[in-house]
Amino acid sequence: MNCPKDWPELVVRVQSLSETGNTMIPDRYIKPPPERPCFTGDTTFNLNIPVIDLSALMTGDPTLVNATMDEISDACREWGFFQVVNHGIRDEVVDGVREIWRSFFHLPMEMKQEYANSPTTYEGYGSRLGFQKGAILDWSDYFFLHYLPSNLKDHNKWPSQPPFLREAVEEYSKEIVKLGNVLLKVFSINLGLEEDYLQKAFGGDNDNIGTCLRVNFYPKCPQPDLTLGLSSHSDPGGMTFLLPDEHVSGLQVRKDGEWITVKPAPHAIIVNIGDQIQVLTNAIYKSVEHRVIVNSDKERVSLAYFLNPKSDVLIAPASKLVTPKTPALYQSMTFNEYRLFMRTKGPQGKSQVESLKSPK
Ligand code: OGA
Ligand code: NI
Repeated sequence: MNCPKDWPELVVRVQSLSETGNTMIPDRYIKPPPERPCFTGDTTFNLNIPVIDLSALMTGDPTLVNATMDEISDACREWGFFQVVNHGIRDEVVDGVREIWRSFFHLPMEMKQEYANSPTTYEGYGSRLGFQKGAILDWSDYFFLHYLPSNLKDHNKWPSQPPFLREAVEEYSKEIVKLGNVLLKVFSINLGLEEDYLQKAFGGDNDNIGTCLRVNFYPKCPQPDLTLGLSSHSDPGGMTFLLPDEHVSGLQVRKDGEWITVKPAPHAIIVNIGDQIQVLTNAIYKSVEHRVIVNSDKERVSLAYFLNPKSDVLIAPASKLVTPKTPALYQSMTFNEYRLFMRTKGPQGKSQVESLKSPK
């Protein structure tokens, strides 16, 4: 199956809808009642995803490294989601890249339209995931670009404005790849695998793994109780590094059936497990459903950096994690094949990874 060259219907920029000042959102964005966010009271009792200080890993203090590795292990097993602080990426780099993207979304529409994307690769300026005609859409626009492998990186597909956007993305990307390499190693050791197991399973050195960035722009929404900025989904790739908008919350994570609103720590980066790591670890680590809610008085910008296996390597449960008591739960598949589910149907909770379950 291949993705078509064009979207099935006229693309409407959510930002343009927001800027009309209408007090009602079009029907296309109204979610069925069970999917709508719940704004009544704080049902989550102020729960938050774990915050983990990575300074020990970065400085290598041996007495603290083990404690940090254990915290990461617990967070991976219990949450599939955590935020890291003192992650080694300078505050100016993190804040700078987020704000430069905010400026991009405030450029005149004609300038953004030059980068309008198509469902074939999704690269560029987009407003929907999935190409099913008549689908209920999410209240967001985005920009999607590739960084690794380097043969997929094409600066001409990255915005040329605002000035220094490309430089800022380059610098941030390098740092994210470094952090990704560290965490792949930590996860491998924590799972009792060779320390380079996951890196190798992802394709080997850095020019073989895949990394891509989706910058999400959630415009103000006059009826935030009827829609979502991003519908419930688990991330299809390996792991995700999400740089949230520090001043506007919106990300919700599903924990024991409840939606928990993430409260980002200053300069934190949120890490979450994707479906490929769920498969590789035979579900010892699980990708977790998450979604984004919007609000009526503040726009929100977030940068989701996806670290993925090379597109054509087969991803299957690690043989060391498959035992008579814990048989392989998943059939193997390449990430390229897997990604088509999301690209075709759009966000669908966890139904994609569930569909890989081996027949009993
Ligand atoms: C994503 C995502 C969350 C957010 O892009 O996959 O889950 O807070 N984003 O924007
Ligand atoms: Ni996501």
